[in-house]
Amino acid sequence: METIECLMTRRSIRKYTDKPISNSLVKQLLQVAMAAPSSANEQPWQFVVIKDRKTLRETSAIHTFSYMLDQAALAILVCEDPTFEFNAGRGPLDCSAAIMSILLAAHALGLGAVWVGIYPVQERMEKTRNLLDIPPHIIPIALVSLGYPDEIPHSEDRFKAERVHYDRWTRSTAP
Ligand SMILES: Cc1cc2nc3c(=O)[nH]c(=O)nc-3n(C[C@H](O)[C@H](O)[C@H](O)COP(=O)(O)O)c2cc1C
Repeated sequence: METIECLMTRRSIRKYTDKPISNSLVKQLLQVAMAAPSSANEQPWQFVVIKDRKTLRETSAIHTFSYMLDQAALAILVCEDPTFEFNAGRGPLDCSAAIMSILLAAHALGLGAVWVGIYPVQERMEKTRNLLDIPPHIIPIALVSLGYPDEIPHSEDRFKAERVHYDRWTRSTAP
């Protein structure tokens, strides 16, 4: 799939078929995630691949909007590991770049995915830590729910000219 097409047609997928995702595709998604940009190239991330059905069911109950994990083929929990950070505070941004890369790679590979928010909601973070035996210093940022799509949402052009400013905030026309 061509890159711009991939960026413009990616949508959150919350319904999946029963088809499993191969280990080689999971490896590819993780390779893509770890190729993401990070502050000072610190790569302050760790990943938990969740395939066990009972565990997926339990993650689906973390909060109201994590329900789709019950039907997912698998999930990838993206975590911030502050021990890799020289400059504190940028980890969630670095991990977000990795998450976005997984979402786009999944779409390009014919998979469906959705970002399930965990950070910065303390209750969700604690539930995730307890469920997956995550050490206290590790920060769970988001779960990416993955499977072969069982829905095809239409793509949306969300361009809003009024959100674009040229040279000064007050200038809204292109030079
Ligand atoms: C930080 C963040 C947290 C999100 N958390 C959830 C979530 O918990 N559950 C969910 O179903 N979707 C979640 N989403 C997906 C958004 O709802 C979705 O991206 C948005 O509605 C736009 O739709 P699209 O992804 O199809 O373009 C999250 C997205 C982001 C960026």
